[in-house]
Amino acid sequence: MNHVTQSNSNRVSALPRVVNSKTQLRAELAIARRLGKSIGLVPTMGALHAGHLSLVAASCRECDFTVVTIFVNPTQFGPGEDFSSYPRSLEADRTALAAYAVDLVFAPAVEEVYGKNHGSSLDVGPAAVPFEGARRPGHFSGVATVVLKLFNLVMPEVAYFGRKDYQQSIVVRRLVDDLDLPIELRVCAIVRDHDGLALSSRNAYLSPAQRQQALVLSRSLRVASELVATGERRTARIIDRMREVFATAPEVKIDYIALVRDGTVDEVSKIDGPTTAVVAARVGQTRLIDNELIARAVATLRE
Ligand code: PAJ
Repeated sequence: MNHVTQSNSNRVSALPRVVNSKTQLRAELAIARRLGKSIGLVPTMGALHAGHLSLVAASCRECDFTVVTIFVNPTQFGPGEDFSSYPRSLEADRTALAAYAVDLVFAPAVEEVYGKNHGSSLDVGPAAVPFEGARRPGHFSGVATVVLKLFNLVMPEVAYFGRKDYQQSIVVRRLVDDLDLPIELRVCAIVRDHDGLALSSRNAYLSPAQRQQALVLSRSLRVASELVATGERRTARIIDRMREVFATAPEVKIDYIALVRDGTVDEVSKIDGPTTAVVAARVGQTRLIDNELIARAVATLRE
């Protein structure tokens, strides 16, 4: 039975059904499939914000049956990382999802996902090596493994990911293409706060002062875009200018800044086609990432 809440707008919204076991999940999906419904999957670790909800909205728009998974996946966290302190808020998440036509939430316990003899893990190759892969050993292997498990459990027609995690979206693309998974991927635009900060569950760790300093990530990306728009093509020059933006926020420690050929993790030495700037930095204990497509097709670049 769906619970019913009364929202502020006087709209009656049903809290989505939550299942915790793979068996229940498969049973619900079998019914949907028998009814000929197309299935959309939105994998998340919860602590839902408007970024996650934009993926949910896209799935509800494009698919007949939307499954949102909420699972803080231990295998993608390193030993010194924030697995235990990662925000968990299932009831608030469920309330947030009530505004959408979500059909099912899968929120399993760790033991349900990883049996005690679990031993397999995926190596997705070069796309997982630089940037996040280099700083977070094993991270993408954990992501790819859990995403493949979720794909196998849900067998969606379409799966939704955010461009916020640029390298993750490339890793998942490799997974789908390399392993011939019959799944369409949608990579949705980054949702930002009014001041430009990319929404992230980890923003909750920031003090107001740190949050203010964290704005240099998105500001540096904007500066990079503006430089390209005014004709700059030299990667080194653009990165120098981005570093100058970071220098205005002494609490923020750059982890990496790079310009890559869009859709890849290959660094470019000169802008001659679609290019994405990727940044990662630490604000106190909190690690933040952001990115932006700073140059589109060559034809649209002004010489
Ligand atoms: P999580 O960080 O919860 O993010 C779930 C999805 O929401 C990811 O595809 C992410 O890119 C997207 N997302 C997060 N912030 C966003 C924003 N500001 N705008 C648009 N999309 C945003 O990414 C993960 O979880 C996990 O690695 C997961 C794929 C669930 C595997 O465990």
